[in-house]
Amino acid sequence: MIPVKIAPSILAADFTRLGEHVSEAIAGEADWLHVDIMDGRFVPNISFGPMIPQTIRPLADAANMPLDVHLMIEDPDRYLAQFAAAGAARLTVHAESTRHLHRTVQAIKELNVKAGVAINPATSLTAVEEILPDVDLILIMTVNPGFGGQRYIPQSTAKIRRLRQMLTERRSNAWLQVDGGISAKNAAEVVAAGATSLVAGSAIFGGKKSVADNITEMKNVVRTVFSI
Ligand code: DX5
Ligand code: ZN
Repeated sequence: MIPVKIAPSILAADFTRLGEHVSEAIAGEADWLHVDIMDGRFVPNISFGPMIPQTIRPLADAANMPLDVHLMIEDPDRYLAQFAAAGAARLTVHAESTRHLHRTVQAIKELNVKAGVAINPATSLTAVEEILPDVDLILIMTVNPGFGGQRYIPQSTAKIRRLRQMLTERRSNAWLQVDGGISAKNAAEVVAAGATSLVAGSAIFGGKKSVADNITEMKNVVRTVFSI
């Protein structure tokens, strides 16, 4: 098993057959299902609310597949309970979206859900430094959040490396997740820099190959980094 979690983002799935696409990702040995929530305020796009994680939850639960919910919404405190009730195993909030990040993270943990914190490309790593001991995951956005199918921002690699160093220095076991423009082409680069969870939407649900083949290809690329 590779020490990196592959998290297909269902934002890129075909919503006319969402259940089938989710089942294909599960059968194709995805590790987590990434669920992108956008409110049209924190990001310039609206995706969907708790109804979608709630809908796919039975499929995920039957396969012991965690729902990794990424909240790209202003003032996320208002909706934490609803997404926890919809089946989120983890709730990741943006450091930029909440005035009292520590309070938000504690509120997530009180719901018995794992807590993650995301930062946008232009946000410095200092924004997550103090919250590190409290979280299960740090998400480095490698595109500006809001849309699938964008291109990976090249400076992200150095940022991933710096965060890896910060986690090592603090002996943190938090997952280092990357999200945006991740594909088999740059998976080795981000994993070599220290990423341990790869979110991918269009690279997994788009294109001509099957969802399972896309996941396998990404895992094979990651294997080359560890020579396994
Ligand atoms: C971007 C979302 C991503 C998105 C990734 O705002 O947070 O999870 O779905 O899509 P791709 O992999 O197509 O860049
Ligand atoms: Zn996301």
